[in-house]
Amino acid sequence: MKRGNKLSLLFLLFFLVIIFITFSIISVEARKNHNKKSRASQKQRNRNGNNAPDIANFPGPAPAPLPHYGSYPTQSNIFDVLSFGAKGDGVSDDSKALLAAWKAACKVPGAIVEIPSEFKFQIKPITLQGPCMPHLVLQIDGTLLAPPRLSAWPKSSLFQWINFKWVHNFTIQGTGTVDGQGSNWWMSSSQIDYVQKRSKYIPDMKPTALRFYASYNVTVQDIGIINSPLCHLKFDNSGGVKINNITIFAPENSPNTDGIHLQNTQDVEIQHSNIGCGDDCISIQTGCSNVHVHHINCGPGHGISLGGLGKDKSIGCISNVIVENIFMENTLYGVRIKTWQGGIGSVKNVSYSNIQVSDVKVPIMIDQYYCDKHFCKNQTGAVAISGVKFDQIIGTYSVQPIHLACSSNIPCTDVDLIDIQLKPSRGYRGFQQVLCWNSYGKSQAPLVPSSMDYCLRRGGGSVKRTARSHENIC
Ligand SMILES: *[C@@H]1O[C@H](CO)[C@@H](O)[C@H](O)[C@H]1NC(C)=O
Ligand SMILES: *[C@@H]1O[C@H](CO)[C@@H](O)[C@H](O)[C@H]1NC(C)=O
Ligand SMILES: *[C@@H]1O[C@H](CO)[C@@H](O)[C@H](O)[C@H]1NC(C)=O
Ligand SMILES: *[C@@H]1O[C@H](CO)[C@@H](O)[C@H](O)[C@H]1NC(C)=O
Ligand SMILES: *[C@@H]1O[C@H](CO)[C@@H](O)[C@H](O)[C@H]1NC(C)=O
Repeated sequence: MKRGNKLSLLFLLFFLVIIFITFSIISVEARKNHNKKSRASQKQRNRNGNNAPDIANFPGPAPAPLPHYGSYPTQSNIFDVLSFGAKGDGVSDDSKALLAAWKAACKVPGAIVEIPSEFKFQIKPITLQGPCMPHLVLQIDGTLLAPPRLSAWPKSSLFQWINFKWVHNFTIQGTGTVDGQGSNWWMSSSQIDYVQKRSKYIPDMKPTALRFYASYNVTVQDIGIINSPLCHLKFDNSGGVKINNITIFAPENSPNTDGIHLQNTQDVEIQHSNIGCGDDCISIQTGCSNVHVHHINCGPGHGISLGGLGKDKSIGCISNVIVENIFMENTLYGVRIKTWQGGIGSVKNVSYSNIQVSDVKVPIMIDQYYCDKHFCKNQTGAVAISGVKFDQIIGTYSVQPIHLACSSNIPCTDVDLIDIQLKPSRGYRGFQQVLCWNSYGKSQAPLVPSSMDYCLRRGGGSVKRTARSHENIC
């Protein structure tokens, strides 16, 4: 009996020690995790009716050091949308909170607007406007969701979902996702008609997901942008754009869902990104110059395009574009320049090099007869194309290796074909011969298929003069 009592006493002591150690470990862990968990617990407290602001997320001097952003030692420049009343449940409208966080951050140099991870914020169409203090960052670690139903979009805000206007020295970064929830917009017109009748709502255009307007020195990096109703990321009247390590994705059959769209924008670098969508992976429009695109995976999609330029006799001007180190798979086109008949202006100094294609319908294309209808009437004017180099375009095609259809009135000049090696892909359909029309320049072996040897016409001093007379307008 005595022995038994001693034993049970020992056991009791042992248990007490174990419990004590466990408790100490748990409390240390809890302190370590405090910052991580504080957002969730704040949300929980809000639900419980306790609205005391969480000190860890509140803008202003805070005691605890911030573990998340090594390069920003204090917290006073962090503007977490949760601290501005966002719910982050994916259903509530968090637009006002995002706007409030933006407005507060805008006044502080080097501020960070934080979209925390593991939360989903539904945002109505909004404009995040500058000018702000320099080096503002939008840190997207969670998810931004567009309104899922068409009827939730105000009729006056169909041009874009999130509009960045007049922001300079601004960065978007983070491991989060911007989700345009576009599937309802991709329906065929008859499906849309049916929806409209039921909702009495008639969208006459589709919104771009992220748009930058009149903004300079903007960086977009690391984030994902998916399922936009229309274009995913658009810059117009902007400059000094850097895009790095982003992912864009929408299904192959989603209409007009361009990846990145540039218009009237200069000094652009787009690099190390994966883009798959239902239209051009990258589309470069009039008014763009000094654009460098490299290390991009494109597909599905329509490839990397310049234009369409010159629609309705308009002016089209693009110059100084380098596209290199690209991999394209299962795209409609590879590298393409498209212009409408009847336009004016010029495309000049464009270089495509080291483009790997796999199962691309038409890897190389200049189309000066671009037309989105069954029939466009022939017109004499054209956007002049000169100085286009195709160098190391290698891989497989499924319809036609090269298609150079230049204007009959203003030929393409200084077109170079160097080291082009294109073979039919395994399951190729409807093979077509190379097409080359009114294109001047020089070619350099190897050229496969060999019929490409006769693609370019030689010489033509007078031809160059004709072409040059059209460049002055730009
Ligand atoms: C943006 O940053 C650059 C370089 O840091 C600086 O020269 C320029 O003045 C800044 N522009 C604005 C509007 O703050
Ligand atoms: C953009 O950055 C360049 C170089 O850092 C700077 O010279 C220029 O002033 C900046 N532009 C604006 C509008 O901030
Ligand atoms: C690219 O972005 C992802 C997040 O989407 C990040 O995890 C990764 O570290 C980034 N890569 C580079 C080289 O910055
Ligand atoms: C062509 O474009 C490249 C890249 O933008 C540029 O470095 C080069 O100076 C341009 N050449 C001419 C003749 O304009
Ligand atoms: C338009 O021009 C092209 C090329 O010169 C020619 O093949 C075609 O028949 C013309 N179409 C009409 C409707 O004139």
